[in-house]
Amino acid sequence: MNAIEIKPDIYWVGVVDWAVRDFHGYVTPNGTTYNNYLILDEEVTLVDTVKHDFLDVGIANIKSVIDPSRIKNIVINHIENDHMGALEQVMEIVPKDVTIYTTQRGMAGMDRFFDISKWTVKTVKTGDELITGKYKLKFIETPMIHWPDSMMTYVEGAKLLLSQDAFGQHIATASRFDDEFIGCESLTELKDATVDYYANILMPFGALIKSKIGEIQKMGIEIDMIAPDHGIIWRTDPERAIQMYLDMANNQADERIVIIYDTMWHSTEQMTLPIMRGIRDEGVDCKVIKLRSTPMSVAIKEFWKARGCLIGSPTLNNEVFPSIAEFMVHLMGLRPKERLMGGFGSYGWGGGAVNWLYDMFSKMKLPVIEPGVQILYRLKPDDEKTCYDFGRNFARQVKEYQQKFTGTSAPMLKKEG
Ligand code: FEO
Repeated sequence: MNAIEIKPDIYWVGVVDWAVRDFHGYVTPNGTTYNNYLILDEEVTLVDTVKHDFLDVGIANIKSVIDPSRIKNIVINHIENDHMGALEQVMEIVPKDVTIYTTQRGMAGMDRFFDISKWTVKTVKTGDELITGKYKLKFIETPMIHWPDSMMTYVEGAKLLLSQDAFGQHIATASRFDDEFIGCESLTELKDATVDYYANILMPFGALIKSKIGEIQKMGIEIDMIAPDHGIIWRTDPERAIQMYLDMANNQADERIVIIYDTMWHSTEQMTLPIMRGIRDEGVDCKVIKLRSTPMSVAIKEFWKARGCLIGSPTLNNEVFPSIAEFMVHLMGLRPKERLMGGFGSYGWGGGAVNWLYDMFSKMKLPVIEPGVQILYRLKPDDEKTCYDFGRNFARQVKEYQQKFTGTSAPMLKKEG
């Protein structure tokens, strides 16, 4: 796929990775893209590079627009390997006096990856500008969105925000823009991919994201296109992307419950059915995920979409089941907020898994309903009722808890139209 003009004299020169299914441990069933951008102005400027594996395609895309010997500036918005991985090879085909612009932390990180002593690297901070000709670039530091080095570049004159990881999605597609993708696929899929990306990568940084969006809004810059480093470019409705991020940063979720469980001899699995019936009879949407059969990143996304989550685990050697332990440790690192939690599970000897879960909920400072439900060996009819009542009571409490958040935004993920 050759370069595509996204604004007058500004080109997407990225690559589509149709095949990647494991993005540093994060499952990407739909592949991804590594977007970078070329600004043809009096000073030709490249913003970011591509993942090293796609170096040849990335350079061919640049060459399809301009001779790389005319490049004057390179902006590195983010030093993670998927965006800076091709920098060394790009530096070999551009003039020796090219200037690289990045943040202070970007330069420190760059120095760990490459020998930068032979390059001219200038550090920039929020508010610094680079006039390339008819366009003016404004740099905005965005530490921890996604790494400490991260920044965005606003192209004044084009009303274009080059947002690096923020507002991106892991989608490999022939569509470059939101309207094209919605026409071929759907808005629901685009939103789902955006939530998936946020949940798995940016969930811990909600407060930072909220304050950064506020800071950008205060700068008074006009944005009519957001071009991230992954996935679709928001040209029709960039405000939708901003609002989605604000909603997620405000811990918005849908009134639904996700049951995430694993099982040894199907007893914990059997418990999910009456629990789910209780939830449904209370009129609350419910999704059930068997963890061992589901990629971790899918479970994280579904967790994030729901206001309530029940975790089911059998007890193994007086401890929680290993797959559930892995999930909970991963979830703790993502620092979720404002999700109502509960635990259940079967046991044969002394129990222990449900207590372990409640200890984790407490460490994560998440609200809970107590007590959880533990069943010895196998469900008997009385136990089915206990599980049903547990599910129904949990759903009631989720509805009540959701009242605190209603009216603040549109549902995050419900289908539109
Ligand atoms: Fe797409 Fe944080 O790299």
